[in-house]
Parts: sequence; C-alpha cells; structure tokens
Amino acid sequence: MNDVVLATRGLGMAFGGLRVFSGLDFALARGERHAVIGPNGAGKSTFVAVLTGLLRPTQGQVLLDGRDVTRSSAGERVAAGIVRTFQINQLFPSLTPLESVVLALCQRDRRARPSLRALRHCAAQIDEAAALLERFGLADDALLPTQELAYGQQRLLEVLLAYALRPRVLLLDEPAAGLSTTQGHALFERLASLTEGTTLLFIEHDMNIVFRYAQRVSVLAGGSLLAQGTPDQIRADAGVRKAYLGG
Ligand SMILES: Nc1ncnc2c1ncn2[C@@H]1O[C@H](COP(=O)(O)OP(=O)(O)O)[C@@H](O)[C@H]1O
Ligand SMILES: [Mg+2]
Repeated sequence: MNDVVLATRGLGMAFGGLRVFSGLDFALARGERHAVIGPNGAGKSTFVAVLTGLLRPTQGQVLLDGRDVTRSSAGERVAAGIVRTFQINQLFPSLTPLESVVLALCQRDRRARPSLRALRHCAAQIDEAAALLERFGLADDALLPTQELAYGQQRLLEVLLAYALRPRVLLLDEPAAGLSTTQGHALFERLASLTEGTTLLFIEHDMNIVFRYAQRVSVLAGGSLLAQGTPDQIRADAGVRKAYLGG
C-alpha cells in the first residue's frame, strides 16, 4: 500500500494511569473505506480523538500525507483536511439544515466565522448547500428546525456537514448510533454511495454493516491493533474470532 493518506507510528494514549492503547502502527489508504472495530471501551473513540487532534497522544506520531501533525491543533487538522463526526449528535437543534450547511460552507470558503454581514457574500454557498441537501435526500427537511427531523435524517445531516468541507479524510464515530439495525443499514447504504471516492474511516459495532461496507478493517482490542485486513481476512482470523467475534 503506497498511497497512504493518514498513518500512525507507535501511537499510544493513556489517561493518567489508564493505558488505553500503545504501539499502534496504522495506515489508511487514499480512497478506501476503512472500519475500526473492537469491544466497548477498547479505545476506538480515543483513537479518533487522537487522529483529529482533540487529544494529544502520550506516545508516537500521527502523519497526514507523510507530514507529522501530532502537535497540530484540531482546528489546524480540519484545515489540513482531517474532518470528523461524533458518536453523539452535535447539530444545532434550532437551526434548519439549510442554515447549518450554509454556515459551514461560508466558514469553509471564507476561513472565518460568518457574520450576518458576510452572509451577503455567500450566494454561491447557498446554491451549493441546496444542491448538497438535495443529493443527500434532505431537501424536504431543509427548512425545518433540525430538532424536528427524524433521527436518521439528523445523522445524515451530520455526515453531510463534514463531507461538505471536502475532507482529505472523513472520520465517522458510530454514525448509526441511536438508530435501529434497519435504519443503520439504510444510513450506510446512502453514505457509502454519497461519499464514493472519499477516504473514510468509520467506527461501527454492527458487524453486518462493517463487513458489507468496509474495504479494510482494523481490530482494536486489549490496547493494540489485533489485526488489519479485508473483511474476509478479519472474519477468518482466529485471534479476532476468539477475542471479539465470539467464536
Ligand atoms: N477523557 C477521558 N478521561 C479518562 N478516561 C477516558 C477518557 N475518554 C475515554 N476514557 C477511557 O478510555 C477507554 C477507552 O474509551 P473509548 O475510546 O471511549 O472506547 P470505545 O470508543 O472503544 O468504546 C475507556 O476505559 C474510557 O473509560
Ligand atoms: Mg466510542
């Protein structure tokens, strides 16, 4: 794998005396959909927080296109193209999806928090927001307060807001959390086709979803990367079955 976009070298993280993981050598190839799986509390969300700069690792490095970004802030990493969504809904409940998307696009293009005055210069972004909402199947919901949307639509809006920043790497921490199995599958079905070509790292606990939508899978368990491979390789891995897949 020569075209690695995001990588870690000897990555370790501890909270005081609690060592979450150590020695992680991870590589994400450009354009792939990659899942991180592992038991509850294995450190998946912490791993994403370290990749995105919300947390500083206690050991090792994070590399974006070969450049060491370990010391870069979360904001600098977003500017560099590492963008994420959270396990828990982070939307503005009283804004409409159109407002949220326009604000995100204006901020992207003007590199500043948009003011009401600056919105006059955001005509192109309003058009782009409308087109994105249409593409994501959110056009009918675009003018409702976000809190009135079905939860599945809210989760899709979160992916849209992150995707709209045209990330080099998009990280999704359990985008289907809070949805039923059927709704979770529907969400992944849509986001897989909508984000085709985007490098995607996602955390998901539903193995049917993981094996269906990931092209590669990394297993985080017991503080290290137990295995990395294609869904078929992971399914067949005796160590993974024993530690995680339950048989
Ligand atoms: N900010 C924090 N401070 C202290 N401990 C934390 C913090 N965040 C996570 N942890 C601990 O780190 C471990 C990994 O948590 P997490 O990354 O959320 O796991 P996962 O996402 O795989 O379920 C857990 O034991 C959790 O309690
Ligand atoms: Mg988590």
